Amino acid sequence: MPNSTVADLTNSNSFKKGFPHETFSWLRANAPIYWHEPTENTPDGEGFWVVSRYEHVIKILQSPKVFSSEKGGTREFGGTQLKDDRGAGYFLNQTDDPDHRRLRSLVNTGFTPRRVKRLEQELRERTVELLGRLNNSSGVNFVEIAREIPLQAICMVLGVPQADRRELCDIVDHGIETQSDHVVARESIKTLSAYGQDLINEKRVRPSGDILSTIVHATQDNDGKSLTDRELRAFFTLLFLAGSETTRNAITGGVLAFIEHPMQLASLRANPSGIKLAIEEILRWTTPSIYKRRTATKNISLHDKTIKAGDKITFWEMSANRDERVFSTPFEFDISREPNPHLGFGQGVHFCLGASLARMEMRVVLQELLSRNENWALTEKPVWVPNNRLLGLKSLYIQSIPS
Ligand code: HEM
Repeated sequence: MPNSTVADLTNSNSFKKGFPHETFSWLRANAPIYWHEPTENTPDGEGFWVVSRYEHVIKILQSPKVFSSEKGGTREFGGTQLKDDRGAGYFLNQTDDPDHRRLRSLVNTGFTPRRVKRLEQELRERTVELLGRLNNSSGVNFVEIAREIPLQAICMVLGVPQADRRELCDIVDHGIETQSDHVVARESIKTLSAYGQDLINEKRVRPSGDILSTIVHATQDNDGKSLTDRELRAFFTLLFLAGSETTRNAITGGVLAFIEHPMQLASLRANPSGIKLAIEEILRWTTPSIYKRRTATKNISLHDKTIKAGDKITFWEMSANRDERVFSTPFEFDISREPNPHLGFGQGVHFCLGASLARMEMRVVLQELLSRNENWALTEKPVWVPNNRLLGLKSLYIQSIPS
C-alpha cells in the first residue's frame, strides 16, 4: 500500500480485531474518496474506490443508475466483493432496474410486515428454548445460541418442513464456517439450491401458508408472468446468505455491546419501551454488513475525485455509521440515540428486504434475555471472524449472573 496509514482492506487480517475504525476515521477526515491500489487479493490487477463519508455513501445508494449492482461481486479473492459474479443478474441484490423492480415487486407480495409478524410466536418459543442453554452454565459460546435463531426464522419464511430444518441449517452453517474455502462454500450453495428447487416444485403443486408459497404463485399485474425457477432458486439461497450471518452478528454484537456498557443495559431494563431505539442503535453500532460494491456506469465526480465508467466502488456503511458529521458522539453506544439515521440496512431501491424480520428477531431475543433477569459476564476474550465483508464474532463466551 502506498499509504501506510490505511490498512490493506483486501486482507482479512486487517479485520481480525474487529473493524479497523482508526483507518476509516483517517479516511473520512483526509481522503473520503480514496483510491485503493491493487493487491494480491484484487482480481484482474485492478484497484478500487473506498468511500467512507455518510454523505457520499447515501449519494451512491440513491443513484442506482450511475452506481450499478448488476455486476455483483463475489467473495472470491481474499473474501472481498471485488470479483464480478457470474450469477449476477438473477439475485435480487445484484440486479438493476427494470429487472430489479420486477423481482422486488414479486417478492414483496410475500415479504410484508404483517406476514413476518405472524412468525413471531413460533420464533419466540424457539428462542426461549435456545436461551435455556444459558442456565447454570459456567461459560457458553453465545454465538452457538444466536446462530440458530435467524436460520430457524428463514426456514419459517420459506416453509421448510420441521424435519428438514436441522440438516439445512447445518449446510448453511458449514458454508459460513468454511467461507475462506471457496470450493466448500460453493458446494454448500449448490446443495442448498438443489433443496430449494425441490421445495419450490412442492409449493407450486401444494401451496402452504408460508411466504415462499405466495412468492412462487405471485404474478405481475401487467403480463401475468411469475418468477422463473432460476430466479426462485436464487431468491431461496439469497435469503440464507443475506439473512443468517448478518442477523446472528447483530444479535451477538448487541449482547457484547451491553456487556461492555452495563449502564445501557440497566437503562433498558428500567425502561423496556426503549427497545425500539435500542435495536436501531445496535444496528448502527454493529453494522454487520460493513460495505458494498457497485460499478460506475459513467464518468462521475464525487467530492474531489473523478470516478471513471467501469471503476469498482466500495462504500462502507460501517464508516458512514460512525461519521462525526452526522452522529454526535459516534463512538458511544447510546440506546436513547434519536434520530438515528443509520445505514445498517442500506437505503434506496435495494433497502434490506428482511429488515422487519431482522428487527423482530432482535427484539424477541432481547426481550427474552431481559425477562431472564440476569446480567452477563465474559468468561473469555471475544474472538472476531477475520472477514472483511461481514463483521461478526466467532466466539462470545458468557456466563449469566443474577441481576
Ligand atoms: C441485522 C440483519 C441484517 C442486516 C444488517 C442486513 C443488511 C442488508 C443491507 C445493507 C442490504 C442492502 C444491500 C445493497 O445495498 O446492495 C440488504 C439487502 C437485502 N437483505 Fe438484508 N440484512 C439483514 C437481515 C436480512 C434478513 C433476515 C433477510 C431475509 C431473510 C435479508 C434479506 C435481504 C435481501 C433479499 C436483500 C436484497 C434486497 C434488494 O437488493 O432489493 N436481510 N440487507
